[in-house]
Amino acid sequence: MNLDNELYHDLIIVGAGLAGLTAALEVREQDPEMDVAVVTQTHPLRSNSVCAQGGINAALGSDDSWERHMYDTLKASWFLADQDAVRVLCSGAEDAIKKLDRYGALFNRNGDGSIAQRAFGGQGFGRTCYVADKTGHNLLHTLFEQSLKQDLKVYSEWYVTFIAVDEGRFKGITAIDLAGGEMHFIRGKALILAAGGAGRVYGNSSNTLFNTGDGIALAFKCGIPLKDVEFFQFHPTALLNGILVTEGARGEGGYLINNRGERFMRNYATRFMELAPRDLVTRSIQTEIREGRGFDDEYVHLDLRHLGDDKIKTKLPQIRDIIINFAHLDPAEKPIPIRPTAHYTMGGIDVDISTKTAIPGVFAAGECSCVSVHGANRLGGNSLLEGVVYGSIAGQEAARFVKETNRRSFGSEKLNGEIDRINRILSREKGERVAALRSEMERTMLECFGIFRDGQTMRRGLETLLELKGRYEHIALEDRGQIYNLNLIRAIELGNMLELALAVAVAAIAREESRGAHARTDFPEANNRHFLKHTLLRNREDGNPELSWKEVVLENIVPEDEIRY
Ligand code: FUM
Repeated sequence: MNLDNELYHDLIIVGAGLAGLTAALEVREQDPEMDVAVVTQTHPLRSNSVCAQGGINAALGSDDSWERHMYDTLKASWFLADQDAVRVLCSGAEDAIKKLDRYGALFNRNGDGSIAQRAFGGQGFGRTCYVADKTGHNLLHTLFEQSLKQDLKVYSEWYVTFIAVDEGRFKGITAIDLAGGEMHFIRGKALILAAGGAGRVYGNSSNTLFNTGDGIALAFKCGIPLKDVEFFQFHPTALLNGILVTEGARGEGGYLINNRGERFMRNYATRFMELAPRDLVTRSIQTEIREGRGFDDEYVHLDLRHLGDDKIKTKLPQIRDIIINFAHLDPAEKPIPIRPTAHYTMGGIDVDISTKTAIPGVFAAGECSCVSVHGANRLGGNSLLEGVVYGSIAGQEAARFVKETNRRSFGSEKLNGEIDRINRILSREKGERVAALRSEMERTMLECFGIFRDGQTMRRGLETLLELKGRYEHIALEDRGQIYNLNLIRAIELGNMLELALAVAVAAIAREESRGAHARTDFPEANNRHFLKHTLLRNREDGNPELSWKEVVLENIVPEDEIRY
């Protein structure tokens, strides 16, 4: 592969989901003439935001306030989220919803025309705005329409392989145009990473196949630290194949039932029951299954029958279709087999509240970033919100950076190294197979860094991951052609996933406590004295991550030692 073409845009945005498109539209608002381009490995409408079903949080009710939303977010986060970042998120929510409404989002309405809200976990009452059970789908379409109206430049199906940084300065990115099979260097003054999460490192996941953490790994490799990557959210309710069954199903009144016919959540969360925060519901389901109260040692039931056919059809139409097509049953007549699945990367690229990373000119927003508003456990409905609120801030900040930077970047001394790396993968005739290594990595992540963890198992997992990283150096492809070579893309993705998996392992082993999604059987309690801190991982010269700790930003809310629901 050669570097076929050199392109230039003042501002490059990687990712066309909610955060990426919001950022791009914000740049247009700031400066309609700014030269901005979006690079995305899939068509924008197939970005992972499309999978978000149940809704987006905002304190709109007269009995609600953004301060209450902030408290609920912090409590669910086990007080690990930064209070300044959560304040920005929650106080910006109402304006974000109004903007989406003006753009034409089809929010469900109350009889008086106001935006309807449903209950979601960890909040105790309805604060989640929704478009039936297709909220992400509708919001993504809404933003995509706006991007068409703005005639936004989009490189669709271009896969980014590398971020070029020389002496601490951002130079550009390399990307493979899948259809043409060519590699390009796109130079720019600034970059916004909005490339999504990494659910696919666990194999079974609610995420699209594209959520392989590439943006996070690329940032890490170019010298940007990662924060809190040990916190990975498992959504409590998915079909056995990983397809999401929205929290909205419980928000509308669904029950979780074990093989004794009990609503077992009363044993784990007496007040909140099925609408406890996700980490707690997930652990409860997993405990029921482990202790023999599941079905076939694999799942429990989500029962929607008492909601009735009409409510299911109007409030959960997509879920109904998914269940009929993939679980082969009608949820109005039979309970649904569900279990937890990997859903959301709560840690990620370390950014401050203006979305700036450690490298001037490089910004990050949405799931690939960690600002941090989710801490140890994210509230359902806060991810779409984060995408819109922080996507918009990223757009403003990056536009300002571009205006203040006179110098255009020129070539990068690192490009030859990147082309050599890709060519080495393409030219090797015999060696390790991508699919086999990937399955081993997924199995290791699920067994050793899943819902419950312990030191011994995690250390074994780390050794396996290191061995897989060694074997990855000998990866060989079945397809060594140029056009639409998905075998090559899967191979590059695997390298990124292994990088991230190792970072998760190092951080998870170091955190000797249980907090939110990081549940250790050998350290079952949260330890605020020692671990109310973020993990920070840097990529060392030798390619191994180096761990340090960073203080949590506290304002006026005092972290609590006991978290009860
Ligand atoms: O359950 C859901 O609909 C997912 C929402 C979210 O992750 O915020």
